[in-house]
Amino acid sequence: MSSGDAGSRPGGIDPGLVPLPRAAEVRGTGRGFALDERTVLEAAPGTEGTALWLRSVLGAAYALQLPPAPAGGGGEGPAVRLVLDDALEPEAHRLDVDPVTGVEIRAGGPAGVFWGAQTLRQLLGPDAFRRAPVRPGATAVVPEVRIEDAPRFRWRGLLLDVARHFMPKDGVLRIVDLMAGHKLNVLHLHLTDDQGWRIEIRRHPRLTEVGAWRPRTKLGHRASPLWDERPHGGYYTQDDLREIVAYAAARHVTVVPEIDIPGHSQAAIAAHPELGNTDAVDTAALGVWDTWGISPHVLAPTERVLRFYEEVLEEVLEIFPAPFVHLGGDECPKEEWRASATAQARIRELGVGDEDGLQAWFTAHFARWLAGRGRRMVGWDEILDGGRPLPEGTVVSSWRGYQGGVAAAKAGHEVVVCPEQHVYLDHRQAAGDGEPVPLGFVRTVEDVHGFEPVPVELDAYRERVLGVQANLWTEVVEDGRRADYQLFPRLAAFAEVAWSSGRRGFPARLATHLARLDALGVEYRPLTGPHPWQQRPGLLGRPLPGP
Ligand code: ACM
Repeated sequence: MSSGDAGSRPGGIDPGLVPLPRAAEVRGTGRGFALDERTVLEAAPGTEGTALWLRSVLGAAYALQLPPAPAGGGGEGPAVRLVLDDALEPEAHRLDVDPVTGVEIRAGGPAGVFWGAQTLRQLLGPDAFRRAPVRPGATAVVPEVRIEDAPRFRWRGLLLDVARHFMPKDGVLRIVDLMAGHKLNVLHLHLTDDQGWRIEIRRHPRLTEVGAWRPRTKLGHRASPLWDERPHGGYYTQDDLREIVAYAAARHVTVVPEIDIPGHSQAAIAAHPELGNTDAVDTAALGVWDTWGISPHVLAPTERVLRFYEEVLEEVLEIFPAPFVHLGGDECPKEEWRASATAQARIRELGVGDEDGLQAWFTAHFARWLAGRGRRMVGWDEILDGGRPLPEGTVVSSWRGYQGGVAAAKAGHEVVVCPEQHVYLDHRQAAGDGEPVPLGFVRTVEDVHGFEPVPVELDAYRERVLGVQANLWTEVVEDGRRADYQLFPRLAAFAEVAWSSGRRGFPARLATHLARLDALGVEYRPLTGPHPWQQRPGLLGRPLPGP
């Protein structure tokens, strides 16, 4: 077995796997195994979900039935065999291809079988990513390989900000498929922000009646003079979200909802002015925010607000079974609390010292509330700022560099590493004027591929690094096409950071992989720069030097 490099195999066909498996070897004559109408699909109990998925994607791409094995097993005849094996970790798997007996995917658990099936699809070539046969009569041939694989990190996440720009449900389901195709397994849905509230709450319908749309939208960075005068909005019904959760679960992707509190809450305050600091500002005059930045209008630290959000979260917990619920906590300006007699009285009454202490109290309340219901709170690294210990099990998303992650790990918390300097995929992909609405730091596909989530400062706390996450904020990502442009091909590079232990030979494998993305219809950024129609001349961005 060659160790950890599927990209350098003398004499073999390079299947260009992304992310790179731990070990891969081409065997035998190189003839491969041809799937045809005699090929059966033998699925061990527990792997039926992967069988269903394989039939749907390969059935569509090659007009193959992949019928179940006859009762009593398929013997040694040609088959795709999905096998569970306790000797392996749940996500670890082996994939063996034999020219006569077919393909065996053996894994420690159903998730590992599914990731192995994703590898099988990649091995078949780009046509396996189409939804109908484009070469009728052509056979699907799997090269004779033996692959051993397992992930580096348990949490391999992508944040999708559906608040700044709403992504309709079909787009989210498509993103789930793209994540699964890259062995990513956590979809962090940023459902609420100053510019929109995107989750139906039955007890508080105004949150979406009022909070789910804005009359117009700033075009480009907030310093831009331009507006899109079209109303923008949308929200997911609870059934939409249940569908997204179930669709993701069938692909071994966990959906972690985010309800951002106590900042980034202007849309909620526009719907319910009583949630704001009514003694400091006329909250009844506030609308859903139509421009970008950090709104100064934050939640009031009152019992009424706590109860309201508990009611919201009760419904969130019914929809999302994940062990984790993200409650934001980032970028909460304190001016209103400084100006509010109610907030100041609260600080004195609670003995929390100052406004940072007040936010820490607010966070701790909900962290305990979630813990009491068997869930773990996740928060941005500001949740550490107030100096108040957080309940055991609280997870920190380290976005302001690595420091928050190091502090959280030292305090005994698990960490999701997602530093803005490295994995914010809203940031521009190249220097110069060619990028559409260029924001932030230059993060090329090579930069993302070179990102190391466990720096030396975290090395001693390696076991507390739950995983890594790339974040797509959508202030200037107005639709799914633009999301494709920002995500790809960098998300393929990120997937390798999240999954693989080695990263060799990426440029050649990426070239192979782009043909898969083409077949899927992903409108990625070409490595040479944007297509003319992907540019946005005249729209002001905000490029930053560095990181
Ligand atoms: C963040 O980027 N405000 C988490």
